[in-house]
Amino acid sequence: MHDMNQDTGLAIRMRGVTKIFGNDPQGALALLRSGKSKAEVQAQTNHVVGLDNVSLDIARGQIFVVMGLSGSGKSTLIRHVNRLIDPTDGEIVVEGNDVLKMSLPELRTYRRSTVAMVFQKFGLLPHRSVIDNVAYGLEVRGVPKAERMEKAAKWIETVGLSGYEQSQPRQLSGGQQQRVGLARALALDTDIILMDEAFSALDPLIRSGMQDQLVELQKSLGKTILFITHDFDEALKIADRIAVLKDGAVQQEGKPEDIVLKPANEHIEEFVREVNKARAIHVRTIMERGEFEACEFQVPANARCEDVLPYFAEHQWVGVTNDKGVQIGRVTAKRVIGALARYTPGVGES
Ligand SMILES: Nc1ncnc2c1ncn2[C@@H]1O[C@H](COP(=O)(O)OP(=O)(O)OP(=O)(O)O)[C@@H](O)[C@H]1O
Ligand SMILES: [Mg+2]
Repeated sequence: MHDMNQDTGLAIRMRGVTKIFGNDPQGALALLRSGKSKAEVQAQTNHVVGLDNVSLDIARGQIFVVMGLSGSGKSTLIRHVNRLIDPTDGEIVVEGNDVLKMSLPELRTYRRSTVAMVFQKFGLLPHRSVIDNVAYGLEVRGVPKAERMEKAAKWIETVGLSGYEQSQPRQLSGGQQQRVGLARALALDTDIILMDEAFSALDPLIRSGMQDQLVELQKSLGKTILFITHDFDEALKIADRIAVLKDGAVQQEGKPEDIVLKPANEHIEEFVREVNKARAIHVRTIMERGEFEACEFQVPANARCEDVLPYFAEHQWVGVTNDKGVQIGRVTAKRVIGALARYTPGVGES
């Protein structure tokens, strides 16, 4: 395949990707480029802007979350990565390969071995059992039966569906079907996993467990995960970086804390208002750096505000340590409360 950016460390690179749905996309594109909004383009031409000039760099080994309200373009974006959708304009390079230049056989191999997808609507094969659904990708890849059944059984267990191996998809609840979809994608063992609202049909407890599991899996397997959600709390819990979409355009991209502490516009402010900030903000972002007397209680720099709150009942300061366990700063209750109330001098300078 075509090698272009093998050494940039990027798993996915999108440049100026625009998608217009309708039968004369170029005409509508010209209108969009002239500065018309999605609503104006739609009113004038009856064409729908799915994505508007999206550029993203997604580094390898990250959980990258795309967030946005219903209709903001999240599914459209993720479907460009495995080319279920062709863009009207722009370029998409995945693991150094120009996705738009792939031939059909290359594309088939690519979908089987580089990017696996968990679909918003599950996309299971209705007449196959759970285990045959999970093993399907391996079967297509020519993995011998015993091996693929063993792998499939392992992933079924991981997603908590042991005992359902022989069930048909229609006998499962929505959340269970969603977990079959997840197991199927994980069984493929690709470097990149695309997850479109993969947890939204799960009840809160299972959902929270799956989020923890995903973060662990990502750490132990080093995969790149492009994860879509409309739930900001979910994004904050799992994301290394977040991009927020509105009307198909990226409003802000950055570390979760950047978005919480420095929302780029009113639209993002609205999201942020609803969020559990104590969980979103790491102590490293708000600590006083410097050499202070060693504190009796210390937390690592990636601890979250909610983790240190209990200490303040008894202590004035909590020490913050680096990964070698050396104290590099401290936080006070005042700092934490200031950050939660969105007023802290010097916040976000780290
Ligand atoms: N096949 C299509 N034909 C025409 N318009 C489409 C098509 N697919 C998506 N759109 C439009 O593109 C826009 C983005 O849709 P998309 O499905 O990407 O949104 P989403 O952010 O995934 O929403 P949700 O959270 O509801 O899944 C919407 O305005 C939608 O109407
Ligand atoms: Mg969607």
